[in-house]
Amino acid sequence: MILLYIVLILIAIGALKITLIAIFFNREIREAQAKDPAAKSALEIILLYQGLHALVAYRLAHALYKMKLFFLARLISQVSRHFSGIEIHPGATIGKGLFIDHGMGVVIGETTIIGDNVLLYQGVTLGGTGLVKGKRHPTIGNNVVIGGGAKVLGNITVGDNSYIGANAVVIKDVPPNSTVVGVPGRITKQEGKKIDVSLDHIHILDPIMQSIEELQQRIKKLEEKR
Ligand SMILES: CC(C)(COP(=O)(O)OP(=O)(O)OC[C@H]1O[C@@H](n2cnc3c(N)ncnc32)[C@H](O)[C@@H]1OP(=O)(O)O)[C@@H](O)C(=O)NCCC(=O)NCCS
Repeated sequence: MILLYIVLILIAIGALKITLIAIFFNREIREAQAKDPAAKSALEIILLYQGLHALVAYRLAHALYKMKLFFLARLISQVSRHFSGIEIHPGATIGKGLFIDHGMGVVIGETTIIGDNVLLYQGVTLGGTGLVKGKRHPTIGNNVVIGGGAKVLGNITVGDNSYIGANAVVIKDVPPNSTVVGVPGRITKQEGKKIDVSLDHIHILDPIMQSIEELQQRIKKLEEKR
């Protein structure tokens, strides 16, 4: 009989937890449904999506961080990292509707700021570039998508509605409505228009690439003269 009561209590606690997450993380659940074609139901997202679990733990840890309970905040964040594979520093500032798809290997640093409706894939690092103190992590605008394995490093800003390609390494500011790919990241699209790297010397973030392009142009001209 006692066992039955314990089971019933555990079921009630579980149901309460699901209901609270469904209420308080409604926007995040809707974003996950909209952005992951594989998502079948809200219940599946609540129970099985590590990205959402990491976010629930982050909200709790962030509240404790703001109360200056740093150790407890970090403890929650590390326990969450153990189970989800996603490390969100409790000091980070995260807007509404963040969706971390797959999640494993995502690292979000202490002074990172993330806007609303951002999508991060597995292996994304929003990190620092060195041992500097103060604001040393990126600021990510609204509606930004950061592809799998991409690293966005330093106190830089990624403008609203931008796309960072998978495995890109971004170390300079990205204007709004841009697409950045490669290492180091270079802008390939802006305001919906493709940027031709051989003609454009303003948006190229990669000096080596720029030198190669210049050399290619000179070789082409010399060949034409012959
Ligand atoms: C960058 C991205 C957003 C595509 O943007 P897009 O505007 O549609 O770009 P296109 O596909 O037209 O490609 C533009 C150019 O960038 C190149 N490119 C695209 N993605 C790239 C990447 N991740 N790294 C390097 N180059 C890339 C293309 O080859 C193309 O080069 P070209 O102009 O010389 O032909 C997309 O390719 C990407 O990387 N998305 C991340 C998705 C992801 O991580 N999914 C994980 C699911 S589990």
